Amino acid sequence: MTTLTKLALGMMGALRPKPAQGDPATSISLPPPVRQGGLPLMEALAARHSSREFAGKPLPLPLLSNLLWAAYGTNRADGGRTAPSALNAQEIDVFVALPAGAYRYDAAVNQLHLVAASDLRSVTGYQDFVDEAPLDLVYVADHARMGLVPVAQRESYASAAAGAIAQNVYLFAASNRLATVIRAWIDRTAIADALGLTHDQQVLLSQTVGYPKKPAS
Ligand SMILES: Cc1cc2nc3c(=O)[nH]c(=O)nc-3n(C[C@H](O)[C@H](O)[C@H](O)COP(=O)(O)O)c2cc1C
Repeated sequence: MTTLTKLALGMMGALRPKPAQGDPATSISLPPPVRQGGLPLMEALAARHSSREFAGKPLPLPLLSNLLWAAYGTNRADGGRTAPSALNAQEIDVFVALPAGAYRYDAAVNQLHLVAASDLRSVTGYQDFVDEAPLDLVYVADHARMGLVPVAQRESYASAAAGAIAQNVYLFAASNRLATVIRAWIDRTAIADALGLTHDQQVLLSQTVGYPKKPAS
């Protein structure tokens, strides 16, 4: 779908998901993430950049598991995560839009839980590449988990936490020669409707990930 079509549909409140490709599993157990290896940090930082050209090729499940763990996985026995959150509220949920359905990443059990049996990649942003790339992530703040944060600060704290997750994904992408871009140009109402979010949940950002259309030379 072109950006213009999406803008028009968005203005009419009619940007809707497509039917799921295949039968969505109600939950997906991810393989244990591999916590070793990858590019040295300084090389990953040197390679980090935004890309907007993606191949349609799906990401294998082990790679998806590693990516989600890098993004916001549990990295300590006490439930600590790979990205920080104010007062350790862990208010961000990472939603995973795949051709076969949309899922919530459950870091504690390393599983994906189905939230929508539809292909809502095209709803995750106005830019056309989001429809065909194999994965669009959506970062959602759950304000109900931020009871200890002053109300006026909740959105900015949650946005900072989502930014840290996004940078984790950028560094993982750089380390694995994947393409990615964080996106704020999104229809938050359409995404919230498609994911079936509650009033406490706020869509902050989306991020597309996939193999680059043209392999790096
Ligand atoms: C908060 C935020 C929102 C962004 N929104 C979009 C977006 O909607 N679409 C897009 O293509 N890029 C978006 N970007 C990516 C920037 O355009 C990109 O980071 C910038 O051009 C610098 O390029 P680099 O990431 O390769 O260094 C966003 C970046 C940030 C930090």
